[in-house]
Amino acid sequence: MSKADLSIGPTQRVRVWDLPVRLFHWSLAALFAVLWISGYNGKLGLHLSAGALILTLLLFRLAWGFGGSPTARFSGFIRGPGTVFTYLRRGKESGVWSGLGHNPLGGWSVTVLIGLLLLQTGTGLFSTDDIATDGPLAWAVSSGTVKSLSSLHRLGGWVLLGLAGLHISAILYYRFGKNEDLITPMIGGEADLSPDIAARAPKEPFASGQKALGLLILAALLVYGGLAIWGR
Ligand code: HEM
Repeated sequence: MSKADLSIGPTQRVRVWDLPVRLFHWSLAALFAVLWISGYNGKLGLHLSAGALILTLLLFRLAWGFGGSPTARFSGFIRGPGTVFTYLRRGKESGVWSGLGHNPLGGWSVTVLIGLLLLQTGTGLFSTDDIATDGPLAWAVSSGTVKSLSSLHRLGGWVLLGLAGLHISAILYYRFGKNEDLITPMIGGEADLSPDIAARAPKEPFASGQKALGLLILAALLVYGGLAIWGR
């Protein structure tokens, strides 16, 4: 995780998160809340619209994880079990993490979150509320499959709520338990880091906004085009 060390000492301002990652993150958090509340209260029209939006965002983030800025790329933060274990045992002193972007444990936790959110939107496409609303692709599979995927979708909602709670608790633990502010960089994009960590920041520039917009449009075409062709 990127850190803005709140302890006193010389620091250097470094760009950590690009604008697409920050917009993705806060839109994702807002949509997650809308989805949870609308699903729980049976406002399924809103739930389905927000579902299509979050799927678009998630597909964009997948693509950005391959073609985005250094701290956004999966290759920059998905590490093998040995590295995660070393980081867990010895923390920053282990030398297995540059100190910029997601740390080896955080990298896995956000990857699992993104993966489970994708799975959740996937099961939602084939779910039913057993009353009047079906997911747009529920017609394409058997009623037994719809039943199983609907149960999985309901269970997934609770699992994700728990994981989102854990995610927010971890961020608060860093802020108040370890005196590291991860939230400000996720808002403004920059962190004040010690000179030795700043020196290890990738020299490669952030990926361009046009590229991000192109990938977002592509993701939207896939989702909304697919729903227009196959959704009912
Ligand atoms: C007020 C609520 C939230 C706060 C303060 C918050 C804060 C943060 C922060 C500071 C990071 C960067 C962590 C790091 O430095 O490694 C992060 C990343 C992330 N958060 Fe949250 N978060 C919130 C809600 C959520 C929710 C509800 C979700 C999804 C259910 C979520 C999903 C993610 C994901 C997927 C990432 C990785 C971002 C990326 O690499 O694209 N967050 N969050």
